[in-house]
Amino acid sequence: MAVVLVGAQWGDEGKGKMTDFLAEKADVVVRYQGGSNAGHTVVVAGKTHKLHLIPSGILAGKISVIGNGVVVDPGQMLREIAGLELAGCDPSLVKLSDIAHVIMPYHHRLDSLEEVGRGDRKIGTTQRGIGPAYMDKAARSGIRVVDLLNPALFREKVAYQLTQVNHLLERVYDSEGFDPDQMADEYLEHAEGLAPHVCDTSVLINDALDEGKKVLFEGAQGTMLDVDHGTYPYVTSSHPTAGGACIGTGVGPTKIRKVIGVAKAYTSRVGDGPMPSELHGDMGELLRERGAEYGTTTGRPRRVGWLDTVILRYSVRVSGLAGLCITKLDTLSGLETIKVATAYRHEGERVAEYPHDLGVFGECEPEYVELPGWSEDITGVRSHSDLPAAAQDYLAAIEEMAGAPVYMISVGPGREQTIEVQGVFE
Ligand code: GDP
Ligand code: IMO
Ligand code: MG
Repeated sequence: MAVVLVGAQWGDEGKGKMTDFLAEKADVVVRYQGGSNAGHTVVVAGKTHKLHLIPSGILAGKISVIGNGVVVDPGQMLREIAGLELAGCDPSLVKLSDIAHVIMPYHHRLDSLEEVGRGDRKIGTTQRGIGPAYMDKAARSGIRVVDLLNPALFREKVAYQLTQVNHLLERVYDSEGFDPDQMADEYLEHAEGLAPHVCDTSVLINDALDEGKKVLFEGAQGTMLDVDHGTYPYVTSSHPTAGGACIGTGVGPTKIRKVIGVAKAYTSRVGDGPMPSELHGDMGELLRERGAEYGTTTGRPRRVGWLDTVILRYSVRVSGLAGLCITKLDTLSGLETIKVATAYRHEGERVAEYPHDLGVFGECEPEYVELPGWSEDITGVRSHSDLPAAAQDYLAAIEEMAGAPVYMISVGPGREQTIEVQGVFE
């Protein structure tokens, strides 16, 4: 049985934590898009783990697959595996698709140079080479893991690519070119480390499903960062939405049983682009500090705001969400009232659906409802019925406004600080 977990907002919803919780019941956990732009924090028995490329299922001792839709930085992957091994994880559980694309040093460089070139239209990327790697994939000039495992072919591809890339770097960006032999030597050394993990991961996942095993797809980023469905151009270059799970793994849509969206009980965004419910004043500062809203990958302060249910409804629609996991409910404890955006206003008109025109979206003012808060510390609560009545009402209001039931509630970063309302694998 396959279940997909997607970010329902702008990323950092707590997908890593929820994946780790659900991984205990799964057999295989799969990343299907993005790369080391992701930062998934998982806290197990008081110890914090930060994962960028390896699926969070590794901490629960499950087969952890990096699917073909992921763009892989070999050095980063090997460093992460080494760190996980030190933390007691079994590296042989990590599987890497032979047709995943490889992030090359020039992708990192171009990511930075393109951002500088954008000036005040910059995207605020994580500078991990993601955009340029997906550009090469779409342009059919990418280098895949299977190429990396063939030294002669790899050297030839690197040399050819660098004739193009060095031209661009030197003539357009006035930057230094790369030496093909040095680059090939460095990457071929990485290749030896990667080789034992490489396989046809589509076969692995489909065989697991045919044997009745439980497969959990761990989304990175979120709906509003999807290159098609997000706030383009302020997006990443992959498909975090549910459809991406099929393309990014070689598993057909008929095999997916359920799609669950992970959403914070409020909103955060890191990087540039519009966010209608953003809070700028003291309340924003309060939520940022209480929620420790600083990026896992870049350390940047995250922008924070009230929950936006226009965005949640949109996520329910574009990913066909069966339900939601609401995380960081504990961060809202102690507020007298809590606002929730239910629609927007633009030039005097009510806007009920996410508008595709970014100019319009950027000018939308949220229409809020104000709900009563609760004062109790809820970090130790382990059942829905033990939550304060106002917290239960807040969750019921989200269900109503988003149009999807709550499957899970998170009341703290720890694995155990999780309330399961409905079983995701049932
Ligand atoms: P991801 O990218 O979606 O996996 O999310 P991140 O790991 O980047 O950011 C979520 C942050 O919130 C991490 O630091 C988590 O440890 C933390 N977190 C997750 N769930 C909860 C929760 O319910 N309460 C609190 N206080 N922190 C949480
Ligand atoms: P997780 O998986 C939050 C944002 C960047 C930038 C935009 C494009 O931890 O939720 P990129 O480097 O992908 O080209 O940057 O996307 N971004 C994320 N924001 N969480 C993430 O991942 C993100 N990955 C990328 O800040 O705005
Ligand atoms: Mg994150």
